[in-house]
Amino acid sequence: DAEKAQYKARIKQLLIDQNAVLVAHYYTDPEIQALAEETGGCVSDSLEMARFGRDHPAKTLIVAGVKFMGETAKILSPEKTILMPTLDATCSLDLGCPIEQFNEFCDAHPDHTVVVYANTSAAVKARADWVVTSSIALEIVEHLDSQDKKIIWAPDRHLGSYINTQTGADMLLWQGECIVHDEFQAKALRELKKLHPGAAILVHPESPASVVELADAVGSTSQLIKAAQTMANDTFIVATDRGIFYKMQQAAPGKTLLEAPTGGNGATCKSCAHCPWMAMNGLQAIEASLVDSDKTNHEIFVDDELRIKALIPLSRMLDFAK
Ligand code: 13P
Ligand code: SF4
Repeated sequence: DAEKAQYKARIKQLLIDQNAVLVAHYYTDPEIQALAEETGGCVSDSLEMARFGRDHPAKTLIVAGVKFMGETAKILSPEKTILMPTLDATCSLDLGCPIEQFNEFCDAHPDHTVVVYANTSAAVKARADWVVTSSIALEIVEHLDSQDKKIIWAPDRHLGSYINTQTGADMLLWQGECIVHDEFQAKALRELKKLHPGAAILVHPESPASVVELADAVGSTSQLIKAAQTMANDTFIVATDRGIFYKMQQAAPGKTLLEAPTGGNGATCKSCAHCPWMAMNGLQAIEASLVDSDKTNHEIFVDDELRIKALIPLSRMLDFAK
């Protein structure tokens, strides 16, 4: 509508004036993803967001995603100004892994290699030997397992147990979860599949094992988009945040994409296949991050000591992923 068009036009101009670029995750709302594309920014998974932000010449990055993505950008590019539509956009995995308890866990198992998911605070990353995202986690754990390393894995227990099943690696799992993916239901999914027998089931590995077991393809957001594009089926049942449908439909035009069922209806489930924190990245908040003179609720800062420590496991991942 007209108001949205005005926001978009103002944001486009502000990005140019402030030498800023918009970096958005696949789980943000379609209009935010479209705006990132139209303005020469990027729409991608968390690994690619990190790489794009690091390599882009802009002075300022507007990170439309959740806080750990902004922190990752700052760790990789301390010379850039990193702004977020709101610093209240967090993640249940990050919240569920406080540094004090994580330190105790690591201290209790000093002979273990510490592997943490990107969905963690800068402090947790600073404690890790490796940072991984879902698109590279399996390969990195395979690599560590081939060297007979014992592994501490944090914080997502579902992703951890999926990787454990795939690799047979010796892994101690932190018991965190993503409130969005944890809601997908195997029983209802089996019923939906009966109605669409020709459909392929695509599952993000933050989902429970009972859901992953039903999958025809398991992978990160970018890997699931690729699967919809390349698999011959013309219908897909997708167990991940519904924000992904925007890009998935572009990549697989003409194919039918169905949401995998979640635990409840709008009244009872916590997230219903859309991350409440990703949803905070609206047009108004993006504009505010560019125009507010007080950046308290927008600008990401990472303590220097933590930043330097966290850069080591993050760079290890990026070098491995090359
Ligand atoms: P990926 O985009 O790396 O698959 O991450 C999923 C996610 O939950 C990010 O919040
Ligand atoms: Fe965190 Fe899940 Fe939201 Fe991703 S979708 S930011 S893992 S709560």
